[in-house]
Amino acid sequence: MTDYQPGLEGVPATKSTISYLDGKRGILTYRGYRIVDLAEHSSFEETAYLLLDGELPTAEQLSVFDGQLREHRTVKYNVRDIMRALPVTGHPMEMLQTAVASLGMFYPNNVPVQIRSPGDESERYVHGQSVRILARMATLVAMWQQMRLGNDPVRARTDLSYAANFLYMFSNGIEPDPLTARIMDACLVLHAEHTINASTFAAMVTGSTLAMPSYVIAAAIGTLAGPLHGGANEHVIQMLEEIGKPENARAWLDKKLATKEVIWGMGHREYKVKDPRAIQLQKMMMELAAARGTASPIFETAIALEEACEETLAPKGVYPNIDYYSGILYREMGIPTDQFTSIFAIARTAGWLAHWREQVSENRIFRPTQVYAGEEMREYQSIGER
Ligand code: COA
Repeated sequence: MTDYQPGLEGVPATKSTISYLDGKRGILTYRGYRIVDLAEHSSFEETAYLLLDGELPTAEQLSVFDGQLREHRTVKYNVRDIMRALPVTGHPMEMLQTAVASLGMFYPNNVPVQIRSPGDESERYVHGQSVRILARMATLVAMWQQMRLGNDPVRARTDLSYAANFLYMFSNGIEPDPLTARIMDACLVLHAEHTINASTFAAMVTGSTLAMPSYVIAAAIGTLAGPLHGGANEHVIQMLEEIGKPENARAWLDKKLATKEVIWGMGHREYKVKDPRAIQLQKMMMELAAARGTASPIFETAIALEEACEETLAPKGVYPNIDYYSGILYREMGIPTDQFTSIFAIARTAGWLAHWREQVSENRIFRPTQVYAGEEMREYQSIGER
């Protein structure tokens, strides 16, 4: 194949058994299980096991895996010292990439990462590293939230679920109520995996060199940080704040569409119907509003804008994507806007690690080709002759 496809659009770059997306029918499955079922009935711990291992765990397998995740929640004081040296004005994603990259230095290991047969030393290593990195991601994000406010990070608790402990550490030791913890848990499930996207591809390319996992996840974090990948939910919040109230939605939309501006959180390259994850997030937002007895004005504005988009954008197959409602939910949970992508990274680490494991189980280093469009061979001229 010699045709160049910008962005590798439509070019299969791997064969994977991890997730499947049908954009016309609005279906996303992890290992064959519908995302809706996982968000409603599973937990992030169980979903991470499913992604990494391929099957839903038995009660005993889940208990062991969950125990391992709880055991590895803390990080060495050296990592905390590195974080202390970082400027509090830096973006949380920059901190996260730095901290994750440093893990390789503080937790060194020289086991080869190429899995040759199920259960071999490398597979045990890959599993062990996956547990450690996944366990520490939430810790790092939560620690930074307090450290940048000038507080000492809160010690992880092992008696709380992954999501509840994250919120507890993130909010300076305030334990979340069960509904908030469950919503965060479902948000992590919904963001955990999404076939082969830019950050997952970055993880696979780095993994294909048999680099250590701290490099793999650091590469993926850097890729997720770009505004074309993570981060659209931050823009959704700014957009809804600009609209101000539900009554303004239609006029605001007409003005933006007239000047061909992008409506944030709307549209998706793959989904041509409403993103199943957006449906689920909206449902949870309604649940939260019902529990509180009031819907936040920003949520009502989002509903009004979605209704307005029904007439103009829906006929083009443009509907809310995952970012449309996720930021609103996070905001309701008291999470600052610049931490939205870090939470995405915590969740997506499960998917990145699953793809890393799949990659190193049947590895071939990525080495695509190129269509050369440069100069013919020519003679070097010394600087005085140019
Ligand atoms: N706002 C306004 N118009 C949009 C739109 C949006 N968010 N998304 C798509 N459209 C329009 C396109 O301009 C195009 O219009 P045209 O046919 O009149 O030229 C039409 O809908 C079809 O779009 P399409 O080409 O299928 O979209 P895409 O695959 O090129 O783009 C995105 C996909 C995600 C890049 C795009 O929808 C977008 O920029 N969305 C906003 C950013 C966002 O929320 N990103 C997070 C994605 S999870």
